[in-house]
Amino acid sequence: MASKEGKIAVFDSGVGGISVLRELVKCMPGENFLYFGDSANAPYGGKSPEEVCDLTIQAVHMLLSRDVKALVVACNTATAVAIGRLREQYPDTIIIGIEPALKLAADRYPAGKIGIMATKVTLKEEKLAHQLERFPQADVARIAAPGLVKLIESGVTEGAQVEELLNKVLAPYVGKLDALVLGCTHYPFVKPVVAKILGEKTELFDGGEGTARHTRKCLEQAGLLNETDGSITIENSLGTAKILEFSYKLLDTNS
Ligand code: DGL
Repeated sequence: MASKEGKIAVFDSGVGGISVLRELVKCMPGENFLYFGDSANAPYGGKSPEEVCDLTIQAVHMLLSRDVKALVVACNTATAVAIGRLREQYPDTIIIGIEPALKLAADRYPAGKIGIMATKVTLKEEKLAHQLERFPQADVARIAAPGLVKLIESGVTEGAQVEELLNKVLAPYVGKLDALVLGCTHYPFVKPVVAKILGEKTELFDGGEGTARHTRKCLEQAGLLNETDGSITIENSLGTAKILEFSYKLLDTNS
């Protein structure tokens, strides 16, 4: 039986979901969070949907054996391929996924030019195609950023390498987008570089805050919101001191 004191498990392919974790903590400081990043297998974005699904189910199985009252899949890629399977397998657990914040961008710029930057898997999955059907007026460009997740996983979120990679990816869109949706939870960590390249004319959106608000609402509705003293535990399949140190550093960043 889920109890208020139970943990909120947060899962991502690596350190990216920490951009969601920090929003969750802001929104629900009294909760006990258990974050697991599967950096040993990251990036997920270039793998087959079957592989991503298997890895996600394996990680979630481990997490849900540990007094967890709710699960946040803080990975657009894993949500796109595995959320249905997870809900089927764990019908009694509150399961929240994340999807590119297209709605926020399209509500703001209904007939605008919107870019979605995400992993190859997310861009190809049916889930995104369905989402796009809801905003027929928006002119949407799908933008992949090969190598970016790997770079962030290696501890690099700023400087020449990130700038060079993003300059190349975003060059065709400079001055042409009303909005860019950061459709991968790793990308908020390079938001300042993206903003510098695209300039003030392009507004940036990500789904972290909305996912946190939705999670809070689900817990409230289930009578499971914990408003006492919270805690945060971060674990990673790499298990090294370096990745954990980097993870806690990301949790403290504001970009
Ligand atoms: N952070 C993940 C996402 O939101 C995917 C990164 C990856 O492993 O490729 O899509």
